[in-house]
Amino acid sequence: MTRPERARSFGAAADDYDRLRPAPVPAALRWLLPAAEVTVLDLGAGTGLVSRALAARGVADVVAVEPDEAMRAVLAARSPGARVLAGTAEDIPLPDGSVDAVLASSAWHWFDPDRATPEIARVLRPGGALGLLWSFADPTTDWVAELRHIQRADDADDEDSTSGVRAGFTIELPAGAPFGPGASEVFRRRTWMAADDVAAMLGTYSTVLTLTPEERAEVHRRAREVVARRVGTDPVRVPFATAVWRAFRD
Ligand SMILES: C[S@@+](CC[C@H](N)C(=O)[O-])C[C@H]1O[C@@H](n2cnc3c(N)ncnc32)[C@H](O)[C@@H]1O
Repeated sequence: MTRPERARSFGAAADDYDRLRPAPVPAALRWLLPAAEVTVLDLGAGTGLVSRALAARGVADVVAVEPDEAMRAVLAARSPGARVLAGTAEDIPLPDGSVDAVLASSAWHWFDPDRATPEIARVLRPGGALGLLWSFADPTTDWVAELRHIQRADDADDEDSTSGVRAGFTIELPAGAPFGPGASEVFRRRTWMAADDVAAMLGTYSTVLTLTPEERAEVHRRAREVVARRVGTDPVRVPFATAVWRAFRD
């Protein structure tokens, strides 16, 4: 499976994605957007988990750009206030200097940074924030680490960058990018989920979405077994983290 195929694999499970994937830890959004930003671009917005969190925070103009039609359909249906646009990070369908902040949630690793960075700089007003975030079940808890192993999330291409769970992680923008120094932080919370949903959440990751139906069923079976053996309760209290990195446009 090629990387572009993996990058476009999510639409096949758009409903499950929206139901099962974690929204960002609220404190993470507060840290990323300290000012009263009016127009915020959610880039690679998926089904709108972050778009909805932004609207709930009172952001007046949420613009969601997402290339996948099936993800976009769920986004439009469930995020009524957002302006939903087809597009990519490498070709953003917005005018120059038109947004106060750009957020990319669990999406930056799918972009071509050499083409996406100048596009983001183009649409962002001077002084505006670029926030990159990843929300995931926290593998610093043993049983979550065992689940991630089943999901094969430890390979170098991991979409939820395990480096994100280390305090002080950095993101290197391409040389000459017009941004000030970056800063990072990790925020955590715990959420109750049905045991079967914890297992099913693995099926929304590209490493699993791109398997055969038989292999996906086997991942689900093994995940249910890990949750039953290691946690043994239903519902399950799941530790989540949101790793964030922020820099301001010159
Ligand atoms: C793991 S999902 C994250 C979705 C959403 N931001 C969230 O936090 O739930 C990655 C998303 O990035 C989108 N994507 C992949 N390549 C992209 C690109 N080059 N530009 C913009 N979005 C892209 C995918 O279609 C998918 O919806």
